[in-house]
Amino acid sequence: METLSLAPFQGITDVVYRNIFRKHFHGIDKFYTPFFTGIQKDNSKSLRGEEISPEFNDVNTVVPQILSNTADEIIRFANQCKSMGYPEFNLNMGCPFPRVANKTRGCGLMADPTRTIKMLNDVFDGIDGIKFSIKCRLGYYNDEEIYAFIETFNSLPFSEIIVHPRIGKQMYNGEASLEKFLELVPLINKPLVYNGDIFDVEKYNIVTKSIKNVALGRGLLTNPFLAEKIKNIDNQQDKKLRLHNFVVDLYIERLHHAGGSPKIIGSLKELWKYMMNIFDDPQNVWRKVKKVNHLDEYEDAVEKIFNENNLII
Ligand SMILES: Cc1cc2nc3c(=O)[nH]c(=O)nc-3n(C[C@H](O)[C@H](O)[C@H](O)COP(=O)(O)O)c2cc1C
Repeated sequence: METLSLAPFQGITDVVYRNIFRKHFHGIDKFYTPFFTGIQKDNSKSLRGEEISPEFNDVNTVVPQILSNTADEIIRFANQCKSMGYPEFNLNMGCPFPRVANKTRGCGLMADPTRTIKMLNDVFDGIDGIKFSIKCRLGYYNDEEIYAFIETFNSLPFSEIIVHPRIGKQMYNGEASLEKFLELVPLINKPLVYNGDIFDVEKYNIVTKSIKNVALGRGLLTNPFLAEKIKNIDNQQDKKLRLHNFVVDLYIERLHHAGGSPKIIGSLKELWKYMMNIFDDPQNVWRKVKKVNHLDEYEDAVEKIFNENNLII
């Protein structure tokens, strides 16, 4: 069965976003959490919050992700996920930020195959009864680095390999290479998931001629109707009204979660950097959001955005 998932976004697609998204939109089968770090103990603080608690997450459709470079920490995370009922966890091998990658974490793992392959073997030796998937790029410095991992991808029982076909050094510049991704398809015997630059149904259709499993990213943050459109899920309700309801609900839920703190504005602005692009005058939208510092200003900005702009989707 083909799966349409949502790639993780640190600072945006936290438990609040995921749950409010689900309440308002359909079509996403699986959500990856933004990465967890610092799992030094079994009861690490980050594992006690709502971000991972099964009380607030559907363990069967949410996959917790870890950013780490040590087998012990990854095993500890896996065991904790398993004890909470998650059937799968994911390792981040794609984060391109130098402060992460330079410490052989995230995409930096791809530049050190000897150490990383040993670590992956050690993880499989230490886990039991939980699926292990990874999310990677083509490499950190160049797009050939992934080839050093193919044998390992094939011999170890990964449940899934998500490839975002850029290199780490590119960050998010240039285009994701569908061509390079397709070269990997016949070489890897595990379920492969494509991730990168799917902003519309046309691009989705091109990608899914060759590969069925796709993780949407910025395309879905920009246009939360994208998964419904891809899956032809009919909804007669007015799109602008639906989006407005989603935006208001997300705000209220974030506020509730943050105990009323205006700090939530940062994460809302991050989402608007993408979402502004489904309005007919994105710059007008961004100007209104950018200058917001207080909660009442945010509420005003949202009302003005929806009064003054129309959707282009
Ligand atoms: C602000 C931001 C935060 C991200 N956080 C994560 C993360 O926590 N874990 C991860 O695996 N990828 C993360 N990513 C990468 C995305 O999940 C995705 O792989 C990338 O945006 C490419 O897909 P797209 O072109 O469809 O957006 C992040 C990307 C951005 C821009």
